[in-house]
Amino acid sequence: MAKVVLENVSKIFGSDIKAVDNVNLEIKDREFLVLVGPSGCGKSTTLRMVAGLETITTGKIYISDLCVNDIHPKDRDIAMVFQSYALYPHMNVFDNMAFGLKLRNYPKEEINRRVQDAAEILGIKQLLERKPRQLSGGQRQRVAVGRAIVRKPKVFLFDEPLSNLDAKMRVQMRTEISKLHNRLKVTMIYVTHDQVEAMTMGDRIVVLKGGIIQQVADPMTLYEKPKNMFVAGFIGSPPINFINGMISKIEDDIFFNEKTFKVKVPDEMVEKLKPYVNKEVTMGVRPENIYDKLFAPGASSTSTITATVEVIEPMGSGIYLYLTAGEHNLVASVSAQERVNVNEEIEIVIDMTRSHFFDKETELTIV
Ligand SMILES: Nc1ncnc2c1ncn2[C@@H]1O[C@H](COP(=O)(O)OP(=O)(O)O)[C@@H](O)[C@H]1O
Ligand SMILES: [Mg+2]
Repeated sequence: MAKVVLENVSKIFGSDIKAVDNVNLEIKDREFLVLVGPSGCGKSTTLRMVAGLETITTGKIYISDLCVNDIHPKDRDIAMVFQSYALYPHMNVFDNMAFGLKLRNYPKEEINRRVQDAAEILGIKQLLERKPRQLSGGQRQRVAVGRAIVRKPKVFLFDEPLSNLDAKMRVQMRTEISKLHNRLKVTMIYVTHDQVEAMTMGDRIVVLKGGIIQQVADPMTLYEKPKNMFVAGFIGSPPINFINGMISKIEDDIFFNEKTFKVKVPDEMVEKLKPYVNKEVTMGVRPENIYDKLFAPGASSTSTITATVEVIEPMGSGIYLYLTAGEHNLVASVSAQERVNVNEEIEIVIDMTRSHFFDKETELTIV
């Protein structure tokens, strides 16, 4: 069992840089947990505290129910893979992978067996004699992962391990690390600033901002039920559209009013939005929940608005339309069948059942 628990963990650098702010988190045994957030939000600091490379200002960290606050990094039974592969340039691949085991005085046969096994898993058996400079970026990254695997640690820590790779290699290594997790069945904590990596790899995702946890959830919950505007805006590409407006009551119905257009709030959201009547809120609509009216003939007129096409971006599988509607710029992700022209006025339908509403002051999700 190797669960990792962070209890009220904070890190303050110097006298006032609060890099990590009272983080509480339980990473389950064998879980693949992703920490995601913009640069500087405290991801690396959190990981480094788990590894023991950084002292903890306040709080406690447990690995397998043992408090490791005072335990030396090398005795924590973890392995960390960094963005910079940190391979020894003068050693070949075999020696790079064997180095940590040699330091720990493992018998020669055991070292040989473990390196061969790891090389097999990672598909780098034919590279064992090469020096790092004779390897591509992707191959170097595999060696760095191999160096971690041979240690057979209880917990793997990854700090943006794919950031130095080109886009195609990143996608490939992403699936390889996911497969590796399935195969090794160990606890992994993976740090990235890339929300696509987070969504595709994580069993659960922790969204961090300014050292504070914003939400912890599985990928689809994070996407469909974001707790606040930050999470809604951070997860998803192209990002969710935020539209400012006022909630208004017309007879028995509740509308969202953007000065130049209004749309009806679905019945199931009315209760939560009633307290906001005549107040400003922000509506969130994801690009894929906006349709051309031509392709949604049955859609209600109360969720249809007029927009002007500004830019058309064909993506192959679909098209991104950059629109203006009222005072707002919107992105719609529409079908590849769509045929529109720049400057054209079109009727668009917002799937209101999938819209989100946020409190303007607190930025928390209302519904
Ligand atoms: N050794 C350090 N001394 C002072 N400030 C630091 C140090 N390391 C990190 N920080 C600060 O702590 C915050 C979090 O940094 P970091 O954990 O590296 O963020 P991330 O990995 O999410 O980009 C940043 O504001 C950063 O400048
Ligand atoms: Mg970092």
